[in-house]
Amino acid sequence: MDAIHIQDLEKTYGDTVALAGIDLAIPEGIVYGLLGPNGAGKTTVVRILATLLKPDSGRAEVLGFDVLREPELVRRIIGLAGQFAAVDEILTGRENLEMVGRLYHLSAGEARRRTVDLLERFDLIAAADRAVKTYSGGMRRRLDLAASLLNRPAVLFLDEPTTGLDPRSRLGLWDIINDLVREGTTLLLTTQYLEEADRLCQRLAVIDEGAVIEEGTTDELKTRMGGSVLEMRVADGDRLADAAGIVERVARSTPQVDRELGRLTAPAERDGVSLVVRTAEAFDEAGVDVTDLGLRRPTLDDVFLNLTGRKPMQPEDEETPGDAPEPAGVGEGRS
Ligand SMILES: Nc1ncnc2c1ncn2[C@@H]1O[C@H](COP(=O)(O)OP(=O)(O)OP(=O)(O)O)[C@@H](O)[C@H]1O
Ligand SMILES: [Mg+2]
Repeated sequence: MDAIHIQDLEKTYGDTVALAGIDLAIPEGIVYGLLGPNGAGKTTVVRILATLLKPDSGRAEVLGFDVLREPELVRRIIGLAGQFAAVDEILTGRENLEMVGRLYHLSAGEARRRTVDLLERFDLIAAADRAVKTYSGGMRRRLDLAASLLNRPAVLFLDEPTTGLDPRSRLGLWDIINDLVREGTTLLLTTQYLEEADRLCQRLAVIDEGAVIEEGTTDELKTRMGGSVLEMRVADGDRLADAAGIVERVARSTPQVDRELGRLTAPAERDGVSLVVRTAEAFDEAGVDVTDLGLRRPTLDDVFLNLTGRKPMQPEDEETPGDAPEPAGVGEGRS
């Protein structure tokens, strides 16, 4: 049985089509990545699966339970850490977790034990008895994630879980995610960080404008990109357009141009080495100085760029969206 099954899911907000008919089948016991540019519909999918939002049409099941007809059963087996951490500011970290534990009907003793375990796992023990309003952004996110694990969910939704985490906390979370999968949890993860998807996800879907535009294992997606990628840097920014013209002519494909880095990339499906030589000669003839001319394996960045025509968001251009915060747990009474 699939952990998650989605069929022809549609959702519109006024004139905005958030989901234009999405189908997904996500096997049990893996980390599945949902990738896509801002506004693609990732959070909408997650909120529908977590029973926080009703679709206009289509079906969605989590471990065979229908999110529309059996929302209470779905809530019992899932955990959710939303895109915007939602924790109670006045309470301490420990009190927040114990409260979520009681909402999941754990006994007081069990809630206390589980809380300590999770505080340790997320490196929050030292801050456990401080009010959350004194926590940093990264600490809040870690607490929100800990809250999503209180009920030992079989299926866990993580909506951009590492946004705003420093590199060490990000690595820590990757370890936790790998542990959870080893214990049999299925994870649906949305992320803007392709390196993260590459490391963690066994399969992924790229969505754009509310539709799945590519689906498969990370290797399949990279293979579909073509065998390798021709990449070079142009020393003089004013010659970028000339360089792009040369690549277009020699490689017979339109290169992606990164103006800031002065970098050009183009798929090099076959005869990569000869292509490097011919490109170098053409640049030489045209008198355009290049550095770092070579071939490399495609990354998920290339896949993403090629499919959506947009660069994935980089950590430094994060904006704070104006959406309302989501409840951290999805147990009754928290929304
Ligand atoms: N409550 C709402 N009211 C109106 N429009 C909405 C609402 N929620 C989402 N949308 C719109 O639906 C589309 C999909 O939004 P969604 O939040 O699912 O995107 P996303 O892929 O999660 O984006 P991001 O990467 O920025 O988090 C967007 O165009 C968004 O503006
Ligand atoms: Mg989102």
